[in-house]
Amino acid sequence: MSSQELRKFYVTTPIYYVNDIPHIGHAYTTIAADILARYHRGRGREVFFLTGTDEHGQKVQKAAEARGLSPKEHASLMAENFKNLWKTLNISNDAFIRTTDPGHKKAVRELLQKLWDDKLIEKRSYEGWYCTPDERFWTEKDLVEGRCPDCGREVEKIEEQNFFFLMSRFQGRLIEYIEKNPSYIQPDTRKNEVLGFLKNQTLGDLCISRPKKRLSWGIPLPFDEEFVTYVWFDALVNYYSGPGYLAPAEVDWWPADAHLIGKDILTTHAVYWSTMLMALGLPLPRTIFAHGWWTIEGKKMSKSVGNVVDPAKVCHKLEGYGIKREHAVDAFRYFLMREIPFGHDGDFSESALDQRVNTDLANDLGNLLSRTLTMIEKYREGTIPQPISIKFRKNIYSESGQQLTLEGDVKETFLNLEKDQVFENHYAHLNFFAALNYFWEIAVKWVNKCIEDSAPWKEKDQATLSNVLYALAESLRLIAIYIYPVMPSTAQEIWNQLGIEQDIEKELRSNPKLIEWGEYPIPGIKVNKGNALFPRIVLAPPLIAKTKISGTPEIKQKETRKLQEESKKQEEAVQPAAEQKTENLIGIEDFAKVELKTGKVLKAEPVKGSNKLLRLEVDLAEEGPRQVIAGIGKQYSPEELEGKTVIIVANLKPAKLMGLESRGMLLAATDSEGTLSVLTTEKAVLAGAKIK
Ligand code: ME8
Repeated sequence: MSSQELRKFYVTTPIYYVNDIPHIGHAYTTIAADILARYHRGRGREVFFLTGTDEHGQKVQKAAEARGLSPKEHASLMAENFKNLWKTLNISNDAFIRTTDPGHKKAVRELLQKLWDDKLIEKRSYEGWYCTPDERFWTEKDLVEGRCPDCGREVEKIEEQNFFFLMSRFQGRLIEYIEKNPSYIQPDTRKNEVLGFLKNQTLGDLCISRPKKRLSWGIPLPFDEEFVTYVWFDALVNYYSGPGYLAPAEVDWWPADAHLIGKDILTTHAVYWSTMLMALGLPLPRTIFAHGWWTIEGKKMSKSVGNVVDPAKVCHKLEGYGIKREHAVDAFRYFLMREIPFGHDGDFSESALDQRVNTDLANDLGNLLSRTLTMIEKYREGTIPQPISIKFRKNIYSESGQQLTLEGDVKETFLNLEKDQVFENHYAHLNFFAALNYFWEIAVKWVNKCIEDSAPWKEKDQATLSNVLYALAESLRLIAIYIYPVMPSTAQEIWNQLGIEQDIEKELRSNPKLIEWGEYPIPGIKVNKGNALFPRIVLAPPLIAKTKISGTPEIKQKETRKLQEESKKQEEAVQPAAEQKTENLIGIEDFAKVELKTGKVLKAEPVKGSNKLLRLEVDLAEEGPRQVIAGIGKQYSPEELEGKTVIIVANLKPAKLMGLESRGMLLAATDSEGTLSVLTTEKAVLAGAKIK
């Protein structure tokens, strides 16, 4: 079913092990689910978005014992870490399920009872190799060099009575189902992996119990209270139990539309969960999407390496560059989705994040908003103009020779976006990377390019200018809608700066047609230009990468350490304090555009007809002296200036003053009392020296 036909949308994340501290990996899946949830809400669908924590099992029991707490107390404290991070990351989950909830436990017992009644669970004597930390049985042939094939730790031979779910019976049906439903397991590489596994080995039955004497922290089996439920059988049921007691009852939520998971838990979902549902006679979810794995600067994330990335800290660091907290969170969300295709593995580095913020968010998006609002302020006193129905007069041609008009093209772009459904299709396939990539090219960068090509600031025809400014404002209103799922706060800020006060999600939910051109009456609205959405981050040059170190190994080591320290200092130095106001600040690259040089005044004389202007001939070590007209005649006599070293803005566009061309500007300081002093250098330097 295409996402367009859907009336409701139910999306889940894995329920995370409550013992872990949430990190970028957990954030990745949860952000992706949040994006889907927001996207479908914005398209007018009823959405239920479920996340939560997996709280039973030996590890939780042990951690609680070590803290002197009951397992439930320990789990409650730990679950807060997840809830808090989701709040920080602006996650809009509709519910948070905990496997210790009474509603969930009841559902697990009911489903177990049904399988027992239907004779799909059997009690058997069992002998196997048990990995205590993983709480998993392995057969002799599964072991790798006598150890757990999953974690490599020692296993223990155990013989005991246990309950088995007759999973093997469903092997054929599952293969058939996956083959008939190509979008059931996504991406295709994962589907093929599962099919390969199912076709090449005989599926065993699944041990779904643990004797209470060995593990008490679990859900007792309804038909034998001496046993508790195997954690995976308990955890997977959350997807089904959650809507039963946490979602609005009037919607029939099952089956889920998308289970988002990491590739690490593909088998438990694609095989265990699918066969459990088949055995229960319940429909299977529409899609199980297993995304890829994040490494950190090329390394696996691990507590022992100390490279576990805390998303809250990453966002906080962006805030330190002067980016508002909500926008920093949005930048992080955008980066995760834009950096790698969903489904592929990715490598995280802060420098890649900073770069992405500067290019896509500061240069493309932020700049588009700021230049549009500046023009509306300048040319229409801050009010979005009414478009005027006129024949467009301005002729611009694309590379292919096609005639373009800014207002016409921008409008066409957005009409086509809805018509061609490319963006919608990318979302339907959870291809956030492609959706964003496509959108940036076709909309954000394109509108910027249209502005550059058509230069509205040169437009003399007032009706055309009104149309252009309206088209730009309208395109920003729509851009906000399109980016809303990924960057909800930024989208809202764009609306607010355009002068639209309404809550973007509420408006969209009540009228999804707002995504269409002209569907919202913005003419007449007073814009509300605020701070830059994304101030540019000053990127520190990678000192170590740039420096070649030679010498003995000892020297190399010492030099590398020195560089590392310098690099760290440099990094700290380029991070402005969080509270620093940035409205009037420019980046180093802006300053670098100004070419300042020393010049020697060869000749100075008053400009005829002016008591203020002096005509200077200044030596800048160029082919010949430059003529500079300076307004310093009241404070300086020509004689005082001749022979002086002065500072000249050398790359200023030539300007005419009293009919004389000035090629550069002389710098002088003026204090509050009106004293003017020409800038010079502290030591004698040659003419033409660069000032940096
Ligand atoms: O497996 N890169 O929970 P869990 C990308 N409780 N995603 C990552 C990641 C990384 N480096 N690290 C973790 C469990 N994830 C079970 C699930 S569901 C019924 C029970 C994400 O806390 C990814 O979604 O180990 C992965 O599948 C999940 O966290 C594992 O979370």
